[in-house]
Amino acid sequence: TLADLKGLKQGNLRLAVTTTAKYFVPRLLGPFRQRYPGIKIFLKVTNRRRLIDRLAENLDDLYILGQPPAHLDISLCPFLENPLVVIAPHNHPLAKEKNISLQRLGEEPFIMREAGSGTRMAVESFCAKNGVSLNVEMEIGSNEAIKQAIVGGLGVSVLSRYVLALEGINGPLRILDVEGFPIPLRWYILYPGSKQLSIVAQTFLEYLLDEGPRIADQA
Ligand code: PGA
Repeated sequence: TLADLKGLKQGNLRLAVTTTAKYFVPRLLGPFRQRYPGIKIFLKVTNRRRLIDRLAENLDDLYILGQPPAHLDISLCPFLENPLVVIAPHNHPLAKEKNISLQRLGEEPFIMREAGSGTRMAVESFCAKNGVSLNVEMEIGSNEAIKQAIVGGLGVSVLSRYVLALEGINGPLRILDVEGFPIPLRWYILYPGSKQLSIVAQTFLEYLLDEGPRIADQA
């Protein structure tokens, strides 16, 4: 349409992303809004299970999550890699070691995400596949709270590498070099299979696929 040609797209964009994707999606929205100031954005951030519930109820235009559900009729675009890494405080005795064994990891107090988290699901299937049992001492339903708990010396965890996007690996946290890690996850962009995307959602999907890799590289 003429409005499209003039870059005057208008309307609402409803996005829902997992708590790992919140570390770069908001950053991507900046240049998008600059390009399309007429588009109003609603961003929901929650865990994988709640996102799948929202998808089943068709509450949002686009979803970003890992490990897409098999039981729903969905359209699916593979998006960026989302490696899961072992995170410890900077002064942890294992921080300087190379090739730490899984058995040694299992001896550390471990902080696990809540049930319904895709991160937890991936950690549990990794452990089952590799015959590791973790020493789960705490369960916390937030990546940020887990980071604070790690800094507080309560244990180590396995989280998306993107949770370190702002402070990097020279801040208070370190990535441990543990055998078998990182766990190679990836995000997908999803929407209900039967749904015809709005022009606005289609525009954002194309923008994500074009610009996502470059912006994620800076994270
Ligand atoms: P979650 O995120 O642990 O918040 O569910 C996992 C994912 O990115 O799919």
